[in-house]
Amino acid sequence: MSTSTPQTTTVGNIDDEILAFTAGKDLVLDLQLAEADCIGSAAHVTMLSRMPVQPPVLTPDEAAAVRAELAKVLERVRAGDFEIVPADQDVHLAVERTLTETLGDLGKKIHTGRSRNDQVAVDLRLFGKQRLLDLMEDTALLATALTTFGEKHVKLPMVGRTHMQPAMPSSVGLWATSHAEAALEDLESLRHVFTLNDQCPLGAAAGYGVPLPIDRQLTSDLLGFARPIHNVSHAINARGKLEYQILQAMGQLMITVSRIAQDLMLYTLPEFGYFRIPKAFGTGSSIMPNKNNPDVLELLRSKAALVLGHGQAVGMILHAAPGGYNRDLQDTKEPFLEGLAITRASVRILARCVEGLDVNPERLRNAFDGGVFATDAALAKVAEGMPFRDAYHYVKAHLDELDQADPDEAIALKTHLGGTAGLDFSLYRTRIHQSMEHVRGARDHFETTTAKLFR
Ligand code: ARG
Repeated sequence: MSTSTPQTTTVGNIDDEILAFTAGKDLVLDLQLAEADCIGSAAHVTMLSRMPVQPPVLTPDEAAAVRAELAKVLERVRAGDFEIVPADQDVHLAVERTLTETLGDLGKKIHTGRSRNDQVAVDLRLFGKQRLLDLMEDTALLATALTTFGEKHVKLPMVGRTHMQPAMPSSVGLWATSHAEAALEDLESLRHVFTLNDQCPLGAAAGYGVPLPIDRQLTSDLLGFARPIHNVSHAINARGKLEYQILQAMGQLMITVSRIAQDLMLYTLPEFGYFRIPKAFGTGSSIMPNKNNPDVLELLRSKAALVLGHGQAVGMILHAAPGGYNRDLQDTKEPFLEGLAITRASVRILARCVEGLDVNPERLRNAFDGGVFATDAALAKVAEGMPFRDAYHYVKAHLDELDQADPDEAIALKTHLGGTAGLDFSLYRTRIHQSMEHVRGARDHFETTTAKLFR
């Protein structure tokens, strides 16, 4: 293709040290956004070609030519064959350079009516959408693993604890589904941030719109977003704040993950022996031949700390950010991308661990001492008509009489809603099913809509 001016996409000053400092890890991190960048650009040029201006910025044929090139870039990205060089600074200029190398002047037109500010924001949302869908699916699978384990052992007694001390009769079913329910609530938080994320910032440009008749609704529709973000300045200011919200939702989930891991570490200690984690989840020691350590579970605790810390880092970058784009925002990228990756990996590995959990019914039942039945015994007296405080003192004075109590009978007596014998497993299954359906529908919509861009 013939060109009239030099093929350069270089913007700003060039000083190697300053360039390296300002680009930071973008040369590497942005590779994760390259696919989204191509998809976003395909929608943008399609919109430009339909813009009612004379002469057109891009004709429909020219837009088709750009989309065809973008499809090739997309293939290279997927094959791991796409590179961002230092002079590019980031993926946005790397894609523009690549298009300009092959398409000449046409490549230089694609940035009409947009800025890297709205471009990176849309890239992060397209990428975030797919990763959130993956994460929601994996969280539903974790909830499934916990529910299945709980249902299988619904009648298996387990000491319930307060202050970590033996407290009242409980069951493996109650323990497992308490965590399933927490994961399902965390899934609600993920769904909330998914909805916030599902808005298109494109067309905001530098944050103040452009004096061209761009169609922001069209770009949003072409990319499968629920709607455009209305206010163009908010579209830019929302960068980082959205990442913070997503990290907070993931932080909630990681708290659940980490607490399950902590429980498992306790209940698999030789002194407890309630559960056994699958062999593959233990590691040995380089010096102590006897060791089988729960490294995976320990790492889940530290991963939770990392995700919570990443959220904190983004919040700190954001809390005093002046309005409009500031380069500080670039530094929210790494904690966000890392938080997404860590959370998903953690949820998946924990689900596998739960799926392979083994129980030791004998150790679980033997852990019941008489005291665990004390409150139930007092309440039995209440049922016979004794005032509770009198019953409490009576039982306290006769604790030795409780040694013969039966854990299996005790957990069968709590038939009320949500008790050991009142758990509604279909409630969990229904919520899991609804989440899966939501993920499936959203993924289908995204994939079919964006695939049309390249047809
Ligand atoms: N790499 C940049 C980031 O992640 C892209 C936006 C650059 N915009 C700018 N005005 N310098 O924030």
